[in-house]
Amino acid sequence: MELLDKNYKKYLSGMDIIGEIAIIKIKSEFLSEKMEISDLIINSLKNIRSIYLQESGVKGEFRVKSMSYLSGIEDPVTIYKESGCQFLIDVSKVYFSPRLSNERLRIAQLVQPDEKILNMFAGIGPFSIVISKFQPSCKITDIEINPIASEYALDNYLLNKINNITSICGDAHEIIQNQLSPDFSRVIMPLPEKSTEFIDDALTMIHKRGWIHLYAHLNSSDDNILMNCNNIISKELDERSRIASSRIVKHIGPGWYQIVFDIEVIK
Ligand SMILES: C[S@@+](CC[C@H](N)C(=O)[O-])C[C@H]1O[C@@H](n2cnc3c(N)ncnc32)[C@H](O)[C@@H]1O
Repeated sequence: MELLDKNYKKYLSGMDIIGEIAIIKIKSEFLSEKMEISDLIINSLKNIRSIYLQESGVKGEFRVKSMSYLSGIEDPVTIYKESGCQFLIDVSKVYFSPRLSNERLRIAQLVQPDEKILNMFAGIGPFSIVISKFQPSCKITDIEINPIASEYALDNYLLNKINNITSICGDAHEIIQNQLSPDFSRVIMPLPEKSTEFIDDALTMIHKRGWIHLYAHLNSSDDNILMNCNNIISKELDERSRIASSRIVKHIGPGWYQIVFDIEVIK
């Protein structure tokens, strides 16, 4: 094998750093040298103790990436820090994206004291924990279908000394239909592949007036991205709700975007 260039970035098509773990995507033409590339990265990045190779995008009901261990310590559990909060995460068993940190902060800054908030797709709890740090007087209910993510959420409430979040493990639709009363001021819907299927559930949960933050993956074939996407989501709403604002969270592929819609509800 030829000596590798120290500039490892040329071999990668992506890298996420979560705590002390780097999850890398290697360009297909360099995959045969994955071990050498991984060793090069771990020797270059002082704060990284493990390297994992990402083998798929997020998939399945639990939205987890498949990955394999490459170098360093073989342990997929780490602590990630953001906005003064800490999250314990097993990167191989639960969804987590450091790229949503700005969104979590943005939503936390919108929340007012004493709100009642429902997070329909809570994962290991990052949105709710950041909100709780900003507004400890809020009462938050987290729903999460992946039992492992739900367990990590409980660990993370303790780690952050938070006692105003209740966690329910199960399907958001079932839980809303059977266990919850419609007394929330804000509903968060961070399941961009499918959240539009749950809009009626979210609307039902708002008491008189409030906000829904809906994340969706949408396609726009021309440059009027937000106008096109607003039109798509407006068709899913009724007279009780309107899109107050929307923004592109990230570009996810040719013509495809993750968009967040801040929807005002008045009943
Ligand atoms: C894109 S992740 C977001 C997780 C978390 N909010 C975050 O930002 O890290 C979506 C989460 O929704 C969960 N999920 C998928 N379908 C669900 C359902 N029907 N009810 C409740 N949770 C669901 C997945 O297991 C996953 O953890």
